[in-house]
Amino acid sequence: MDLLMENVTIFTHPLIQHKISILRDKKTGTNEFRALIEEIAMLMGFEALRDLPLQDVEVETPIETCMTPMIAGKKMAVVPILRAGLGMVNGILALVPSAKVGHIGLYRDEKTHEPHEYYCKLPSPIEQRTIVVTDPMLATGGSAIAAVDFIKQYGGKHIKFMSIIAAPEGLKRLREAHPDIQIYVGHLDRQLNENAYICPGLGDAGDRIFGTK
Ligand code: PRP
Ligand code: URA
Repeated sequence: MDLLMENVTIFTHPLIQHKISILRDKKTGTNEFRALIEEIAMLMGFEALRDLPLQDVEVETPIETCMTPMIAGKKMAVVPILRAGLGMVNGILALVPSAKVGHIGLYRDEKTHEPHEYYCKLPSPIEQRTIVVTDPMLATGGSAIAAVDFIKQYGGKHIKFMSIIAAPEGLKRLREAHPDIQIYVGHLDRQLNENAYICPGLGDAGDRIFGTK
C-alpha cells in the first residue's frame, strides 16, 4: 500500500524500491541509470494517471459493436524540468503516446541553490490539459516551485509533480507553495546536506543521466 498524505503519494511498490536502490549505487553506469529512470517513471505514471479522463468510443469486436472507454489522450502534457526531468519523459509517453511535451529549463545556482530559468515552452491550450511535471530530484523544492509557478502563469490548472527521490524539506516547501497540485514521490529520503544534495540520494541526477561528470 502506497503512503498517502493529503495531495502526496509516496510509493512503496517493491519494483520501484528495487530500481531506486540500483540507481543509488555509484557503480551503476549511464546506460543502466537512464533506462531505470525511464522504467521508474513509467511505474509511477501508471498510478499517477489513474484519474485520466476516459471517453466512450464505438468499437467493433469480432462479435458485436460496443461502446468502450478510451483515454482522451489529447488532454495531457508532460513537462520535464531540464535537464534531468527529460530522463522521465519516455516512461510517461510509453503510457500515453499522444501526450504533448513542454519544457522548462532551470538550473540551480551552485552557491545559493536558487533556481534560474533559461527556457520555457508549453503546449497550448495548456489550461485544458492534465500536466505531469517530471524531475527525478526534489531537493530544496526551489526548482519544482518555480516550474509550477511558470505553468500556472501560463494558465495551467491540473498539475501533477512527479519525482523519484525527495527530501522532506523540499516536499514540505512544495506542498506549502502549491497545495492544489498532486505530488508523487518514489522514495522520501532522510535530509539535505550542506550543499543541498539529498542524503542518501543518488548524486547529481542530470550528470548521471547524461554522463557529464
Ligand atoms: C537538479 C534536479 C532538480 C533540482 C533539484 O537540477 O534535476 O531540477 O536540481 O533541486 P532543488 O529542489 O533544490 O531545486 P540541476 O539544477 O542540477 O540542473 P540539471 O538537471 O541541468 O543538472
Ligand atoms: N539535484 C540533484 O541532482 N541531486 C540532489 O541530490 C539534489 C539536487
